[in-house]
Amino acid sequence: MGPNEPWTAAPFIPRRRTLSSLRQAAHSCRGCPLWKRATQTVFGQGPSRPALLVVGEQPGDREDLAGRPFVGPAGRLLDQALAAAGIARDEVYFTNAVKHFKWAPSGKRRLHQKPGAREIAACRPWLEAELEVLAAPVVVTLGATAARSLLGPAFRVTRERGKILRGLPWAGAVVASIHPAAILRGDPLERARALEQFVADLRVAAALLPKARERPNPAKPEPMLRGGHRGATGMRTAHPRRVGKRQASANT
Ligand code: URA
Ligand code: SF4
Repeated sequence: MGPNEPWTAAPFIPRRRTLSSLRQAAHSCRGCPLWKRATQTVFGQGPSRPALLVVGEQPGDREDLAGRPFVGPAGRLLDQALAAAGIARDEVYFTNAVKHFKWAPSGKRRLHQKPGAREIAACRPWLEAELEVLAAPVVVTLGATAARSLLGPAFRVTRERGKILRGLPWAGAVVASIHPAAILRGDPLERARALEQFVADLRVAAALLPKARERPNPAKPEPMLRGGHRGATGMRTAHPRRVGKRQASANT
């Protein structure tokens, strides 16, 4: 990989894509330098026919050690919020925009570092492949990294959170929200309100689920997906359709 070549996971994606072939192959991904300092690839986890696919940023310290997404403090808060929104954990597939833990040493601790645009772009083929094989009817993105990876760099979570975004090739509907870690890091006095707004966003997604479950075969890709994958960018996000009265009250 030359210094000017873009980093990419693309050469590591198996030709025959199933959830297990992807997971297996992701273990030896060297698509960007993040694998070097991380313990292991943290691939997505959940049912192969999820009602909902949740995309986070990247594994944290705990996830890096466990090899599973959302097992640390942010994951606990996410579990609580999903439950409060009426979403059962066992119908959710959890994954991240970036699949290795990016960190810097701080004394004895490993301090979380935000993944950069190159790393997010490098790792996107894994996320796209997951979206394609899972064909989840509803996708929720948590935080700016996940939203930008899927909805483009111009996407603004603060402005668009809690809206139903349609017209994307790999999901019936997408709802963007903030990252639960932001609630944990934020002003403790604001925490209850921030959590309430987060749950309100998840309820927007929850309201779409019963219909999604009635689909005859939610794991089958949409016809538009079969003729090749369109890629994560270039999707319609400029005029997301506002649907129903269950708009999150959080768009202020
Ligand atoms: N934060 C994330 O974005 N993903 C995880 O898996 C854990 C924490
Ligand atoms: Fe591959 Fe993604 Fe890990 Fe980079 S972060 S090595 S692209 S799996």
